[in-house]
Amino acid sequence: MRSLLVTGGAGFIGSNFVHWVLDNTDASVTVLDAMTYAANEGSLADLPEHRFQLVRGDIRDAALVDELVARTDAVVHFAAESHNDNSLEGPEPFITTNIVGTYTILQAVRRHGVRLHHVSTDEVYGDLDLDDPERFTPTTRYNPSSPYSASKAASDMLVRAWVRSFGVEATISNCSNNYGPRQHVEKFIPRQITNVIDGVRPKLYGAGLNVRDWIHVDDHNCAVWTILEFGTPGETYLIGADGEKNNQEVIELILELMGQPTDAYDHVADRAGHDLRYAIDSTKLRQELGWEPRYTDFRDGLEVTIRWYRDHESWWRPQKSATEAKYARKGQ
Ligand code: NAD
Ligand code: TYD
Repeated sequence: MRSLLVTGGAGFIGSNFVHWVLDNTDASVTVLDAMTYAANEGSLADLPEHRFQLVRGDIRDAALVDELVARTDAVVHFAAESHNDNSLEGPEPFITTNIVGTYTILQAVRRHGVRLHHVSTDEVYGDLDLDDPERFTPTTRYNPSSPYSASKAASDMLVRAWVRSFGVEATISNCSNNYGPRQHVEKFIPRQITNVIDGVRPKLYGAGLNVRDWIHVDDHNCAVWTILEFGTPGETYLIGADGEKNNQEVIELILELMGQPTDAYDHVADRAGHDLRYAIDSTKLRQELGWEPRYTDFRDGLEVTIRWYRDHESWWRPQKSATEAKYARKGQ
């Protein structure tokens, strides 16, 4: 892959992907990003001009998408509205960006015969019981719970249809919850780290027993690159690093690593329809494509992430008070 179009490359995972590609491959990158509240230009600062370009624009803009896709070797599609809580407050942009935006990209890659990798989430499968021995596999039935996960499920279905009906060369990945640098402070882990930095007690939804299967963002992005290079078009790969933890455990670990008493947090109002547990079986990706995660110790990965937020206050500070004001209005 010499030239990549990365949609949503100014967001959390997309910007880390851009850094990963520039650091680990010879490819050049064009980012297409609408620079919504979730984007941060600081995430793409100081990148080499001869290998990197940022185009401010919308994936729902068919003419712009067509023009950019026509001059690329492959598209890696991260752009989305990504926060469950926002999808409960206002679902509309989730429908237009995640579904119509993906449709717009599919039509362009179809017209120009360009390879696509579609980045999706394990949340399309709904949730598991806490004591269920099963984990999500590529044959698990889709059963999304929130407007966010339903819109991602719809986008996956469109990709599958365009592969089958029009021969589009696309792969899909469904990954578990990511953590790492450059994640917006609305999300669970950065919200709690920056609360502790600000002397505010972390906020745990409900009883805090909900389980997420944490993976470091660099491991996710290495897997995306591996699928792009070696994956079989038409296939779906699940990405996960065996990182199941309940939310209470995560908050306690953050408090411990930041030198606070481990019970110095508050229980707040639960999320409507809150999925109980996600868990990924990534055997297919490991066996067929030889991918392995590098961050196998969550404690180590979290420690490095905490250091990043301590060292990059100017990156997150401008979003913090508006984000907290929004949560406060909902009793969270
Ligand atoms: P993010 O919210 O941090 O970033 C999304 C980016 O997309 C932002 O830069 C935003 O400006 C851009 N964007 C939004 N609407 C756009 C539009 N209409 N046109 C162009 N750009 C637009 O999200 P993230 O956490 O980095 O997630 C990236 C992708 O990975 C999403 O598709 C998400 O569903 C998927 N995913 C996320 C996780 C996770 O834990 N965060 C896990 C699995 C999969
Ligand atoms: P989040 O980062 O929003 O990701 P997702 O909804 O995609 O899993 O939330 C992760 C988990 O943390 C989820 O179970 C909700 C919970 N949560 C809290 O307990 N407190 C918070 O302040 C936030 C934002 C999330």
